[in-house]
Amino acid sequence: MNRKFSTILVTGGAGFIGTNFIHYLFGKAGFDGRVVNLDALTYAGNPENLAAVQKVHGGKRYFFERGDICDRALVEGLFDKYEVDAVAHFAAESHVDRSILGPEAFVRTNVMGTYTLLDVARKAWKGRDDVLFHHVSTDEVFGSLGDEGYFREDTAYDPRSPYSASKASSDHLVRAYHHTYGLPITLTNCSNNYGPYQFPEKLIPLMILNMVEGKSLPVYGDGKNIRDWVFVEDHNSAVWLVMREGRAGESYNIGGENEWENIKLLDRLMEIVSLKAGASVEDYRKLVTYVKDRPGHDRRYAIDCSKLKKELGWKRESSFEAGLARTVDWYLGNKPWIDSIRSGDYLKWIEANYKQR
Ligand code: NAD
Ligand code: TYD
Repeated sequence: MNRKFSTILVTGGAGFIGTNFIHYLFGKAGFDGRVVNLDALTYAGNPENLAAVQKVHGGKRYFFERGDICDRALVEGLFDKYEVDAVAHFAAESHVDRSILGPEAFVRTNVMGTYTLLDVARKAWKGRDDVLFHHVSTDEVFGSLGDEGYFREDTAYDPRSPYSASKASSDHLVRAYHHTYGLPITLTNCSNNYGPYQFPEKLIPLMILNMVEGKSLPVYGDGKNIRDWVFVEDHNSAVWLVMREGRAGESYNIGGENEWENIKLLDRLMEIVSLKAGASVEDYRKLVTYVKDRPGHDRRYAIDCSKLKKELGWKRESSFEAGLARTVDWYLGNKPWIDSIRSGDYLKWIEANYKQR
């Protein structure tokens, strides 16, 4: 199997992983077709992330379309206008804490938005098999692990937050469109990503910026929850591999095989940032503040990605140390980006969130 696409509709391409995916397509992946980036530009999306791509390929091989994936007429129009033959579906509401405070947007975008894209694709593609709908999902659909074991592709779904429940629902719809209508789909479930362009409400960028700004470093609960961290470019190389070579109808798990307790990760991050910023790690340690736990906080995520490695030969390129160093450098070197994304409702939300704790 080696699929070729001429026009990929990337949804959510102005967010963290989607931005990196588009950079990857035009860079290392060597994709030679067109990319249409459909993004509603919520608080998490920033079209400036792709200014360099726009400059070189804008209007020829790269097209930015601001819009909502729930807007059926708009999505139909894009399929028609650009003769889309693949979808890489990244758009979502993606932050667990926000889903606890306001689940509705998650159900709307993650469930209804995915349904709308699937249904438009089904009708536009009318039984073609030279097309593909790739759905980007999370390991959080599998629930929470104890000290032992790993999530595999056949692990039963057990989502426990409004975010993961909405993603699980979208995964089921994607598979249902394959089984019922024969829509060619592939699906990936990935562990926690880190890297450039991640919105600083997620653990790693939030902590880096708070260190530099001398703000408290809020650790939820006992700090011993475990996440499996993967560099965003390794996630995207896997997505692209699955899109080209994955079997239609199949899911593939993606992970870093890199488990860290939050508090140990924070400790390592403090060491790296202090070295790079020329600051004292002891001063950073004084900022660590244990706060009330996240309600329903999943204890441990860990991915078994042997299917992806054995079947498609996927390999990670980045070690955790190298990926973290690149990430810290990026946040220390991109103040204008940080200022610009914070100009939205970022601060308002952070304040409301911490008031609750
Ligand atoms: P993000 O929040 O950084 O970006 C989401 C993007 O989607 C934003 O640009 C936003 O403007 C856009 N968007 C939101 N609602 C939209 C709508 N209704 N219509 C059109 N665009 C809309 O998210 P991310 O971290 O880049 O995650 C991307 C995908 O990867 C999501 O599907 C997420 O569930 C999945 N995922 C994320 C991680 C992670 O660690 N961040 C891990 C595994 C899977
Ligand atoms: P997060 O980056 O929100 O990703 P997810 O909840 O999708 O795994 O959080 C990663 C881990 O870090 C999770 O166990 C919650 C914890 N966490 C904190 O302890 N403090 C924080 O300020 C944040 C944002 C997260």
